[in-house]
Amino acid sequence: MRNRKKLVYFALAISFLLYMNFSFFRTIYDDIERWNETATTSSSDLNALLESPFGQPGLAPTESADFFFGGFDNETGRTFDGRLIVPNIIHYIRFNVTKFSFVDYVCLRSAYLAQKPDRIYLHTNVKEIHFSGIYWQWIRKSERDLYSRIVVQPMELPKEIYGQPLSEDWGLFHGSDVARIQIMMKYGGIYLDNDVYVVHNLNAYRKYEIAMGWDEGEFIGSQVIIAHRKARFLPLWLDCYRKYNPNSWYYNAGERPTVEILYKQPELMHRVKLRLGVAQLMDELYESKEWPNWDQNYDTMHLLTGHRYYLDSHFKEYPDFNERNIQHYPYMFGKLARLVVPPNRLPRPPTDFGKKIKLEKLKE
Ligand SMILES: *[C@@H]1O[C@H](CO)[C@@H](O)[C@H](O)[C@H]1NC(C)=O
Ligand SMILES: *[C@@H]1O[C@H](CO)[C@@H](O)[C@H](O)[C@H]1NC(C)=O
Ligand SMILES: *[C@@H]1O[C@H](CO)[C@@H](O)[C@H](O)[C@H]1NC(C)=O
Repeated sequence: MRNRKKLVYFALAISFLLYMNFSFFRTIYDDIERWNETATTSSSDLNALLESPFGQPGLAPTESADFFFGGFDNETGRTFDGRLIVPNIIHYIRFNVTKFSFVDYVCLRSAYLAQKPDRIYLHTNVKEIHFSGIYWQWIRKSERDLYSRIVVQPMELPKEIYGQPLSEDWGLFHGSDVARIQIMMKYGGIYLDNDVYVVHNLNAYRKYEIAMGWDEGEFIGSQVIIAHRKARFLPLWLDCYRKYNPNSWYYNAGERPTVEILYKQPELMHRVKLRLGVAQLMDELYESKEWPNWDQNYDTMHLLTGHRYYLDSHFKEYPDFNERNIQHYPYMFGKLARLVVPPNRLPRPPTDFGKKIKLEKLKE
């Protein structure tokens, strides 16, 4: 009799475990199917499961996230059936920008070539017909495969968070900080700032709940985020905005989540100290003509484009980059750019260099 009772409990426990595993499995598969070129996005049953794993509505996001990632190993990561758990989609945010700069183009190309993503989402409050600039024309008119992967996804610039208006001065920055967390919670995938250069394929990170750049003695760098949408860190990160500090550039996005969440629960993050290149690489990129082992030591690099005007000593000579001046730009960024721009867009510079430059000046 007693043994029988034990057996029943045992059986119940086993089926509970199986159910948990099965549900996790389903989410993972759904994510893969969802972004398969051929699949359509019909997953209402799964969404119901996600929202209330035990048929109880109204579970807090962190609880349902624990349901999927409780006890997840941040060192080994996990795959299912050989499949990676983070979908192969790249996200960019472009609030209030219509024009594609040369650096935007270089970074997008680097990501496309290295990652071969299923989709590239441009989350923006600008309509595609208003996208402008020669580099967007190049993509649209002559880079069919790249263009076919791009999804222009309408998104409003967040104006407030938890009822607090976002800073006017930092509007675009703080809006984009909040938006990237929301986007990751909705889709998962690979978030990249518009000035992140992708050196290598990032699939090695796609087996983790979430991976970010976080060097010794630094706060997390939010320029690169590789995460599953149910990563437990994401809702906690968003919660850091409950006490929003409008006067600080990086408090809610970087300092607070590092100090208040990750110092206490480092297991929530697969920490990448150097390889995601979110530390200051100004000298290497814009002052050096050689950079030994750059391609072995980094998977991505934040190009700090918006900081060049006060940090780059050659800024005055090269305030903007383009397909012409990049051909003779002697520092490392030039090499990185030339590696990913299609060769027919970069004709070999003629030997009589001075003459060419003079001619170009005349034309402009
Ligand atoms: C995508 O869908 C096709 C057709 O249904 C299937 O053959 C293929 O294995 C799927 N790919 C992935 C990555 O699931
Ligand atoms: C963004 O663009 C909108 C519409 O053009 C404008 O109203 C708003 O002030 C801009 N926001 C910022 C922060 O520049
Ligand atoms: C994983 O989490 C542990 C804490 O459980 C932490 O000490 C370790 O640094 C983390 N590893 C990585 C690669 O983030």
